[in-house]
Amino acid sequence: MGFPFFGNPMPRQAKPKPRPITESVTIREISLLDLPPIFALGERLFPADKWPALYRTWDEYELAVHFASDSETCLVAEMDGQVVGFALGTLLEKRMSSWTYGYLLWLGVDPDVARKGVAARLFERMTDLFIKLGARMIMVDTDAENEPALAFFRSQGFGQETPHLFLSRNLTHDPDYLRHRRAPRASPTRRKPATPSRPNYAPGRDDDD
Ligand SMILES: CC(C)(COP(=O)(O)OP(=O)(O)OC[C@H]1O[C@@H](n2cnc3c(N)ncnc32)[C@H](O)[C@@H]1OP(=O)(O)O)[C@@H](O)C(=O)NCCC(=O)NCCS
Repeated sequence: MGFPFFGNPMPRQAKPKPRPITESVTIREISLLDLPPIFALGERLFPADKWPALYRTWDEYELAVHFASDSETCLVAEMDGQVVGFALGTLLEKRMSSWTYGYLLWLGVDPDVARKGVAARLFERMTDLFIKLGARMIMVDTDAENEPALAFFRSQGFGQETPHLFLSRNLTHDPDYLRHRRAPRASPTRRKPATPSRPNYAPGRDDDD
């Protein structure tokens, strides 16, 4: 029965179901044009003062090296023509071991689309790639305080968390350091990538080095 003063209520229209954001996200292999937006997003997500303990440093060199050597395992999440996330991985083969590892080095999603499943989509595709390339295990690492990343990795089935301590020693008072600084430089030194060629441990396997 309708209400006399307000008229009959309008028939309720079925609201269109909001399309999950991940459906409008495309996951694809990285291309050269992606480097500037990925770099800019990484600068927002990995500022050196936020995660000073990260032994890898987010910089142009880091990104360019991965693009040059591992583009097959570098993925981009794109939405409306914009880069909203990326995953940079590499394949590791241990000497004297038949095992191949997939190592996810960097994973980042624009905070504007956080908790919408973008990282999960990137990770799903990366897993497919690693499997196709022969990996039997995936490794990731992050700062012990990086709760969102830990929660994400745990949600993707990661376990076997092995604490790993990074120690540092200041060299600027070392006599050799001071001598070296005073000597004229022969040629400009080229920076080396901060990424180790392989991680220091391989969970689940005996160290064979
Ligand atoms: C970690 C990160 C990649 C997650 O990206 P995301 O697209 O928001 O993650 P998803 O939406 O795919 O999350 C999937 C699941 O992970 C977990 N998760 C993700 N972010 C979380 C958070 N901030 N708090 C708690 N759980 C979280 C949840 O279980 C989530 O499922 P739910 O939303 O249904 O509960 C993103 O927060 C990020 O870029 N962080 C900064 C960079 C970084 O630390 N990278 C990882 C180390 S290289």
